[in-house]
Amino acid sequence: MVTAVFPAAGRGRRMQAGMNKVLLDLMGAPILVRTLLQFSHSRQIGYLIVSVAEDEVPFIRQMLRHVSGLKPVAVVAGGSERQYSIANGLRRLPEETDIVLVHDAARPLISVSTIDAVIDAARAVGGAIAAVPAKSTMKIVNGERFVAETPPREMVWEVQTPQGFRKDILLSAYEKAEQDGYLGTDDSCLVERLHVPIQVVESSYRNIKITTPEDILIAEALLREEANGMSGLVRKAARHAKKGLKEQLMR
Ligand code: CTP
Ligand code: MG
Repeated sequence: MVTAVFPAAGRGRRMQAGMNKVLLDLMGAPILVRTLLQFSHSRQIGYLIVSVAEDEVPFIRQMLRHVSGLKPVAVVAGGSERQYSIANGLRRLPEETDIVLVHDAARPLISVSTIDAVIDAARAVGGAIAAVPAKSTMKIVNGERFVAETPPREMVWEVQTPQGFRKDILLSAYEKAEQDGYLGTDDSCLVERLHVPIQVVESSYRNIKITTPEDILIAEALLREEANGMSGLVRKAARHAKKGLKEQLMR
């Protein structure tokens, strides 16, 4: 069974909304609810664990009770760092779990196809992370703000979530991080310390992490476009139709 763990215990300081940003409304539903529904749409997902700030546990439990279409969900208290919030979630994994996905609650635009691709790769390889090719050239900069290195752009990927791992691998990685007092910025870097292979799964630029106020506007625009049925193949078809129409008119 695949269990997905959602860190949602941040304070959303950069959003400046005076509340946890994952509870903000995004076109009619709280961001957190949208994220959980996307995962519930994957047939492979069996269980959801949401890690939220301790003082928000009762309220969020209550809120989720009213949402239909969700897979079974547990709400647990998070910690002071994202990594600790996830660690608390991992303590509640159902016994039957073989694959664990970790996904930022603040990424509601995740597609079901990326969720499934990460699950498949994690099963096959042991670890898999969603990412997109870097659009810009990146520089490694030293402490004095001088350029130290330019990694070749084709080697640079911007990492997102979900990140999926076999349960034993992820639990060992968290155990080792705790023993060593290591704090990482994503789950992959904890697992990398075990020297096990982790595959990169190409995701979509749409899978943004809602972080600052303008991200809400971007997310709304993307959702509106999806609602208009203008994504992917449809857009391509529309382009072809337009071209054909133009040619006809010019005849
Ligand atoms: N998160 C968490 N526990 C923490 C900190 C963050 O579970 N102690 C979660 C957030 O709720 C979010 C995800 O980790 O879903 C990614 O973190 P980020 O985008 O940084 O969210 P916040 O920490 O809430 O935002 P900010 O850093 O602006 O305060
Ligand atoms: Mg943060």
